[in-house]
Amino acid sequence: MASNPVLFLFLLSFLLLVSVSSSHFSSVAMKSGPLHSKKNAVANPEKVSLSLYYETLCPYCRNFIVDPLAKAINTDLMTILDLEMVPWGNAMILPNTSILCQHGEDECYLNTIHACVINIWPDPIKHFNLIQCIEEQSSAIGLGNGADASYNICAKQLGFPAKPIKYCYESGRGRQLLLQYGSKTDNLNPPHRYVPWVVVNGTPLLENYGNFVEYVCKSYGGQTLPAACGSYSTSSIPKDRSLHSVCPAGLAGPAKDPTLVQENMESLA
Ligand SMILES: *[C@@H]1O[C@H](CO)[C@@H](O)[C@H](O)[C@H]1NC(C)=O
Repeated sequence: MASNPVLFLFLLSFLLLVSVSSSHFSSVAMKSGPLHSKKNAVANPEKVSLSLYYETLCPYCRNFIVDPLAKAINTDLMTILDLEMVPWGNAMILPNTSILCQHGEDECYLNTIHACVINIWPDPIKHFNLIQCIEEQSSAIGLGNGADASYNICAKQLGFPAKPIKYCYESGRGRQLLLQYGSKTDNLNPPHRYVPWVVVNGTPLLENYGNFVEYVCKSYGGQTLPAACGSYSTSSIPKDRSLHSVCPAGLAGPAKDPTLVQENMESLA
């Protein structure tokens, strides 16, 4: 009888040891298994980060997205670029927690749709294609007319399901995502003064944002530059007109009237 508890304890600790070490081995095996090698094959540690702080109905943001940025994204520049879209711009949170957007309700709506699209399709090339299309649509449709038509048309055209976008917006998830972009924008250091506000590896390009390809290529620390870096041209946005090519911050209130935005911008020049 006396040896039984000892034998029992011995067996128990032996079993424990076996189970602990086998689970340890299996977790090690998982970590160094296919996941690890896949990550090695894909990761490019020297990628340059480019963040675009923008709002959907600022015409200069739209011009930047649909032309120079879209062109760059269709080149091999994407092999060295981590693109981040931040659709908040010059919006503000009012004391009653409502969001006030520079170009009115349609802009808040479309900013939220963009936030949803980015969240649903985290692959930058995928969500950028949809965002580019929505920007093109909203310019064709104009303010106040058919804001919700734009993403339906684009989803259909590009073969994305529209339902997840609708659900994201209606469930309030979109608003949460939008507020996260708001706090990201408000935490910018230095703070943004206008949009489009392009930040490459933490440095804002200010009014030189049109030359982003040059900045990205020069910031790249890797061995071989992509072909896109051999052929960048200088800005398609004339430098002397650059201050006319932004939507200034701090005008969310009066800027509801587009003519006021125009006047405020002239006074910046
Ligand atoms: C918050 O305040 C703004 C302006 O003061 C008003 O237009 C808006 O309707 C208010 N929102 C809510 C949810 O009360």
